[in-house]
Amino acid sequence: MNEVISEKVRDEFGELKSHYFNAAYFGPSPLRSKRQVEDTLAKEVNPSFIPYDEWYQKPEISRKHFANLLGVTADEVFHSCSVSDVNNTLIQGLNLNANDVVTVINKDYPSNVLPFLLAEEKNRNKLQLLDLPLEDLPTSKWLDDHIDPNTKVFCISWVTFDTGKRIDLTDLGKYLKEKNIFFIVDCTQGLGGLKLKHQELELIDAISCASYKWLLGPYGHAFGYISKNAKREVTHNNGNWITSANSTNVQSLLEYTTKTLPGARKFDRGQTANLLATSCLEKSLELLLEVGLDNIESYNQELVRYFIENLSSKNLKLITPTQNPSNILCFKVTGGEASDLEKKLTSNNIDVSIREGSLRLSFHLYNSKAQVEFLLNIINSF
Ligand SMILES: Cc1ncc(COP(=O)(O)O)c(C=O)c1O
Repeated sequence: MNEVISEKVRDEFGELKSHYFNAAYFGPSPLRSKRQVEDTLAKEVNPSFIPYDEWYQKPEISRKHFANLLGVTADEVFHSCSVSDVNNTLIQGLNLNANDVVTVINKDYPSNVLPFLLAEEKNRNKLQLLDLPLEDLPTSKWLDDHIDPNTKVFCISWVTFDTGKRIDLTDLGKYLKEKNIFFIVDCTQGLGGLKLKHQELELIDAISCASYKWLLGPYGHAFGYISKNAKREVTHNNGNWITSANSTNVQSLLEYTTKTLPGARKFDRGQTANLLATSCLEKSLELLLEVGLDNIESYNQELVRYFIENLSSKNLKLITPTQNPSNILCFKVTGGEASDLEKKLTSNNIDVSIREGSLRLSFHLYNSKAQVEFLLNIINSF
């Protein structure tokens, strides 16, 4: 096991009181985030003499952290409230006609379906709902066989929330690039526990990602990434003083302009600085950057492998394909009831999720090998 990780993070998650295998639900924030929020809260109850620049510039800290986690520039990152909001921003800004098709995955998280369904209802585009292959991972061949020939936009989760399938972004991305199809990836169930590779990123036009799971931030924030090329294809449809070019100077607010701040900032949410949330977020991201996503991914993957190799229960069937593993493992409970297993785990202070009747386990940097052994003991005796 990677001792650097366990030592570095042990103190940061000292307030986590359960054996927590549930980052796919909520990621715990580290102690440094709590301290930063406490400092911000002190200003909330006493906002005397806070300079404009101090709060106004706050979003730039986490914007830069997101950019560093991806290996892109801060100009390509925007702050949003949710994955749904990012997708709404993108679909409302793309220039499509009523016969252009947006292809999404049937049974993907609703944030990756509803914005496009609504656009279809408003006659802005057509929608294709595509079923993923049942057992295997989707491939470019599968996509070529099934995708509507009029598809202009394709949206998919990098890691599926209910089965932990990790999509091969390079294979699909190369196909989509060749066909000039705008490629949107929801990284919510991957980024933070996994690292997005440069070769993968190059093939993606836009990313959405909720910050409160594997990125260990607060609920109520998501970020978007839009590549420099893709940005030319997406207009912004939200007039907001805080993203206007004249918001940088408190003395020029009344010089109205629809010109915007540089780069993807024009897509930022209103009240971007969202002070309590960004205080928590910037410290969570700082920790991830300090430890490094490469290290975190290999540590998490060691835990995942260890769990699979030592699972002996005959009452669980792994439904997550193992050829391209994520940090989520999902099991159909074949002997007994999933709810009984959940009760047994809860009574042993182990926090997991049951999704669509399946057990979902999430492995992240604060989990130790000893915790995985404890989890195995309980599950193997079910
Ligand atoms: C894959 C995926 N995307 C997005 C979300 C959250 O969506 P939103 O940010 O729109 O609330 C979740 C939440 O579980 C998810 O699993």
